[in-house]
Amino acid sequence: MSGGRSVLFSAASDSYELAVREIRGEFGRDVRIQRVGAELGRMDGPSVREVAAACDTGRIMFVRHLTVEIASFEELPPEHELAALVLGELPEYPKALAVQAWTDGAGTGGSSYHRLEEALTGRGVTVTRAGQEYVVSCVGTRKAVLLGLNRREDSLSDWPGGRMRLARGEERVSRSEFKLEEAIATFGLELPAHGKAVDLGASPGGWTRILRRHGQEVWSVDPGSLDPRLRGDRRIHHEATTAGRFFAANTVRFDVVVNDMRMDQVTSARMMLDAADHLRRGGLAIVTLKGGGRNPLDGARRGLQVLGERYDVLHARQLHHNRNEITVIAHRR
Ligand SMILES: C[S@@+](CC[C@H](N)C(=O)[O-])C[C@H]1O[C@@H](n2cnc3c(N)ncnc32)[C@H](O)[C@@H]1O
Repeated sequence: MSGGRSVLFSAASDSYELAVREIRGEFGRDVRIQRVGAELGRMDGPSVREVAAACDTGRIMFVRHLTVEIASFEELPPEHELAALVLGELPEYPKALAVQAWTDGAGTGGSSYHRLEEALTGRGVTVTRAGQEYVVSCVGTRKAVLLGLNRREDSLSDWPGGRMRLARGEERVSRSEFKLEEAIATFGLELPAHGKAVDLGASPGGWTRILRRHGQEVWSVDPGSLDPRLRGDRRIHHEATTAGRFFAANTVRFDVVVNDMRMDQVTSARMMLDAADHLRRGGLAIVTLKGGGRNPLDGARRGLQVLGERYDVLHARQLHHNRNEITVIAHRR
């Protein structure tokens, strides 16, 4: 965990090169970056704290998970060696550690998890999958098994490689639900008690359902229809129109605006400027800025610049459930 160690970073395979551009833009061209898997890179230069800070504030958007590399092997060593290696890196003997294992390709990393779990529990350490101050990461690539150790607060996500897994229950209205749930959990967002929320691009209603579960009364704006299961809820108001038309006539003052509209980043961000007039000061905004164009990084940056006219951007990141888009969290100024 000492300085000078390589930092392993995870990004969606399609976004890996964008992440590299961002890292070089932030830390200079001298940072050594090596691709070690489809979704995994290694960088030498900045500390994990510096990289995490740049990711937390959205200066780097396309990295979703970090850990510090402490060893790499062709295959995992015997348990007593594994335990000694991990425990020797920590400033104090831990009561508990999180262990997270995954593979860069197909597969779950389950066997590595159990090896580490046995190694550490054998030394009196409680092992869980998340929720501890320190996280041991173990990622299998085609060529090696890499071991990482990091503080949870510098990891960006408390899931293996940032791959959050959410239950696929029958009550789910859309796959998009995962994006909002992941954003709320990852950034620790609290929605106001009994708040009023407007959901732009709501159809078929996945985000609306999640907002309702967080106690919001929801105005669901979309020319498309809502899932029949949402129709009986008197705290859902389906506004079957476009966002522009809705705001032209709206008189409700909102606490929260969410926007998952299918449109390019700048158009979507401009709609958020209109929304700002209907959002209370300090109100929460959650927006997906969608891929679009040949250069998604520049598009996302332009979208953020537009949002910056009326909002303070807190976070901007491509989360595990984002496809070709980033999720932005902001407060209305
Ligand atoms: C990805 S879907 C939203 C999925 C939704 N968040 C969910 O969880 O079910 C994008 C939606 O944006 C809507 N949309 C596109 N342009 C819009 C506009 N100008 N005003 C309102 N909705 C719009 C589309 O009709 C489409 O239903």
